[in-house]
Amino acid sequence: MQFQVLKAGSARQRTACAIVGIHEKASLTEAARRVDRAAGGAISRLLRRGDFSGKCAEVFPITALRRGPAERILLVGLGPKPAYGRKAYRRAVFAATQWLARTACTNAVSWLAADPVPKLDARYAVRHAVESVSNALYRIPDLKSGRKPPLPKLARFGIVVADADAEAAGRGLADGRGIAAGMARMKDLANLPANVCTPRYLADAARALAKEHPSVRAQVLDERAIAKLGMGSFLSVTRGSEEPPRLIVLEYHGGRKGEAPVALVGKGITFDTGGISLKQPTGMDEMKFDMSGAASVFGALKALATIAAPVNVVGIIPTCENMPGGRATKPGDIVTSMAGKTIEVLNTDAEGRLILCDAITYSRRFKPRAVVDIATLTGACVVALGAHYCGLFSADDKLAAALAAAGERADDRAWRMPVAEEYTELLKSNFADLANVAGREGGAITAACFLWKFADGLSWAHLDIAGSAYLTGTHKGSTGRPVPLLVDWLLHGA
Ligand code: BES
Ligand code: MN
Ligand code: ZN
Repeated sequence: MQFQVLKAGSARQRTACAIVGIHEKASLTEAARRVDRAAGGAISRLLRRGDFSGKCAEVFPITALRRGPAERILLVGLGPKPAYGRKAYRRAVFAATQWLARTACTNAVSWLAADPVPKLDARYAVRHAVESVSNALYRIPDLKSGRKPPLPKLARFGIVVADADAEAAGRGLADGRGIAAGMARMKDLANLPANVCTPRYLADAARALAKEHPSVRAQVLDERAIAKLGMGSFLSVTRGSEEPPRLIVLEYHGGRKGEAPVALVGKGITFDTGGISLKQPTGMDEMKFDMSGAASVFGALKALATIAAPVNVVGIIPTCENMPGGRATKPGDIVTSMAGKTIEVLNTDAEGRLILCDAITYSRRFKPRAVVDIATLTGACVVALGAHYCGLFSADDKLAAALAAAGERADDRAWRMPVAEEYTELLKSNFADLANVAGREGGAITAACFLWKFADGLSWAHLDIAGSAYLTGTHKGSTGRPVPLLVDWLLHGA
């Protein structure tokens, strides 16, 4: 898809479809009035007839146009004016794109950002448009045989902004393109079945990313190298599997040479059966998404490299399968982490923290100015927050506030949850330095506190994306989150 910023003053060029936003029970916006005038009053006639209510994301095409530069006009509802903002704007762009994707339109021009969107400057208005269009056009690279539905014909998408906003809009275009490319990369990886997307497949994907972008370097460590590092906790998870583990290191250099990087640590369990603490069968297929944290690191680096963002970032991805087997780790087994702490594995299904703790320790060699781990870590986080907010855990108030603010701006929200000594107490073991699980209560918090134990002296945060990284049910699939949050944070100087 080719995106383009158009100035309102010069936007009389021909288009297959002009997209115009209409509020519920309100007069026409400035932009709508302009398009209406050019089309000889087609919009106001239609509204007078009462065919269109302006309910958020409702669409209505006007196709029999005799005048003006647009072959069609697509009205899209923006909802009631007082409630209008980022969410409604994104929903409207998404709905308009879904309609366009079903038509013969090869190009379209959106007038939604020509009017001010409350609390969005032009940079963000354009970026959110690019993201929403891209999300609406994303198709899972499925493995269905037989005839595929036709691909959308839409190939060019113009975004009209006020003349004075053109420069900021240009930056938003670059941000949006990068984030959309990053989200697509994350989705493609996470949507793959676990018999395709193995640790070795992810390693290849890392090399491919480095090949696409000279600013990205990939390094892959195999089982022997991982053992040599002393990652006994990571390796305890992979023992039941025939697939060998990998530790993937992706370095993006966009900032000054010698500037401390930000480390992004992504959980890369390509399938989580639970191990000997085997999961229930219902919905177990969704545990192919247990590498969503890893996929989000790929996505974030893809985005940063596309944008050429002026930061240094190192992505660290421990990846393996969690399987039962004759050699699998058993409840009660004690393993030694790279940091030297011994861990009693009371539940082999709490494997994410076991691979992440060693990856966090490994991140220290890059002397990072911040470490953020991203993981589908706990079902308890899904119970606590559902799908809309991810869990944000950090003892560093400034870092937590920066990540929460980035999530807000990016429309990829994170809700802060506590880390505190009272919870780490619950991870005590009679046999080792700590246990890998506490009780049922506060499960997302005790999981975070386990990781916190390995982040001593680091500026560290943890994102539990178990609820937000993928959708279940009829729309089952990766959401591409938290790529927008991470990239926004990194673009803001982290
Ligand atoms: N990958 C799961 C967490 C998960 C659950 C993600 C549901 C998405 C949806 C993780 O490895 C896990 O199994 N966690 C356990 C921890 C428990 C054993 C303390 C859980 O949440 O049940
Ligand atoms: Mn598990
Ligand atoms: Zn897991």
